[in-house]
Amino acid sequence: MIEIEGLSMDRDGVRVLDDVSLQIPDRSLTMLIGPNGAGKSTLLGLIARLLRPSAGHVRVDGLDVFRAASDAVARKLAILRQENHILPQLTVEELVGFGRYPHSRGRLAAEDRRQIADALHRANIAALAGRRLFELSGGQRQRAFLAMVLAQDTPYLLLDEPLNNLDPRQAISMMQVLRRAVTDLGKSIVMVVHDVNCASFYGDRIVAMNAGRLVAMGSPKDIVVPSTLRMIYGVDMSVHEVGGARIVQPFS
Ligand SMILES: Nc1ncnc2c1ncn2[C@@H]1O[C@H](COP(=O)(O)OP(=O)(O)OP(=O)(O)O)[C@@H](O)[C@H]1O
Ligand SMILES: [Mg+2]
Repeated sequence: MIEIEGLSMDRDGVRVLDDVSLQIPDRSLTMLIGPNGAGKSTLLGLIARLLRPSAGHVRVDGLDVFRAASDAVARKLAILRQENHILPQLTVEELVGFGRYPHSRGRLAAEDRRQIADALHRANIAALAGRRLFELSGGQRQRAFLAMVLAQDTPYLLLDEPLNNLDPRQAISMMQVLRRAVTDLGKSIVMVVHDVNCASFYGDRIVAMNAGRLVAMGSPKDIVVPSTLRMIYGVDMSVHEVGGARIVQPFS
């Protein structure tokens, strides 16, 4: 379980996360939604300890992330950031190999190589394993970073807009990989997404933020209703039921 208690953060004197408390159950796919600037990336960055809070605590599987040793945190959770600035000269395979660092300490063993190959395959980027990052398209690069995160093989995955730049086929394939990671491998995934239909279709739970606060959480059926979507985004969206899932028609 991820336990977040009274988490606040000020950036440049502005409170961008305001007293957030939340428990995220294990073995679930939690969709984090909300408008631009709501604080979604800030929240993920804090859980992964890339940022320090102004107040509050985060425990991941009982581990106090702001107090624990960094390698203990790295074995517990992996994060895909919204923006990745990393050496463009690296090959895809080298990048994914970095994902194994908390396990391998730089010396790849047979199990590391197996995990790298598996992650390349699952992110559908194996055919480009030898390419350098600067030689990839935007969606290919996104898949390379996803493969790096999958290769870490941590029980918790935090993914900030993982579907960015992916075409529909690649996005569906990635969501199936993530769904199976939860259902078959028992992983716990928190992912940020702007596509409400994706959140509705694949999420076990949706957590919605606005202006640094939690404003709604529940099952897709609870959240994907016009009044709640209006409260979250400030726009009217009509909701339809398709194949048992709530689907929004965003443009009108
Ligand atoms: N490095 C920074 N320094 C100062 N303020 C920042 C910094 N990064 C983000 N912010 C501010 O913090 C607030 C929350 O930003 P955050 O990146 O968490 O939003 P988000 O919900 O992820 O939005 P998006 O959907 O656009 O990615 C915003 O008002 C943003 O301007
Ligand atoms: Mg963000």
